[in-house]
Amino acid sequence: MRLTLRIWRQSGPDATGRYEEFEVRDARPEMSVLDLLDVLNADLVDAGVEPVAFDSDCREGICGACGVTVDGRPHGPAENTPSCHQRLTPYSDGDTLRIEPLRAAVFPVIRDLVVDRSALDGVVESAAHVGIPAGSAPDADSILQGHDAAETALDFAACIGCGACVAACPNGSANLFVGAKLGHLALMPVAGADRAARAREMVSAADEEFGPCSLYGECSRVCPAGIPLRAIGVVNRERLRSVFKRS
Ligand code: SF4
Ligand code: FES
Repeated sequence: MRLTLRIWRQSGPDATGRYEEFEVRDARPEMSVLDLLDVLNADLVDAGVEPVAFDSDCREGICGACGVTVDGRPHGPAENTPSCHQRLTPYSDGDTLRIEPLRAAVFPVIRDLVVDRSALDGVVESAAHVGIPAGSAPDADSILQGHDAAETALDFAACIGCGACVAACPNGSANLFVGAKLGHLALMPVAGADRAARAREMVSAADEEFGPCSLYGECSRVCPAGIPLRAIGVVNRERLRSVFKRS
């Protein structure tokens, strides 16, 4: 099928961006949005035109490197699906797709569809300490953990750090991301030793860079890892807990 792509082009962080229109004639429904960009880029290179810059790595929905806005929605039209798995099935011959970078004040555009998501790394790095004696790793079976806690920690650990939740939020809040990190580590036997300090540091780092949460819920709808809205409650719970607990 033939698709028209309106794509955001921006040569650098300080350059003025604009939309450019391209046509891809041999798009197929089973292709992903990133496959479509690959086809377009091959045509552009053949024509001697600068290809469109975008991020990707695993293309398996696990690394969090990809993330573009398709028709106004972070990652694309399918709920809870990363850009690398967004298929073209909703589109028909002659349709137009508008593809932009993830839009958030804390994610400046580096080039075209590539944004700087290091503000998310800053939140994690703010609590990147391990308050336990260093030494060789304990045997995996020597620290017991309840099944339910392990399952919940694994659910929260699914966050791939893509930043779509921030881009989807009208406030630019990172609470879904922060809640996923806090909820995961609070339940781990070793990492849980730093629970209160981590909550104080991560929440404070997030408050400095990101907007407040107003419970719109858009974050959870676009999250490719299916992080539930209750992760936001984890932020509030861990924040309050850290006021009363030293660890
Ligand atoms: S919570 Fe979901 S949308 Fe937000 S960074 Fe993690 S995986 Fe991406
Ligand atoms: S490229 Fe790794 S999650 Fe999409």
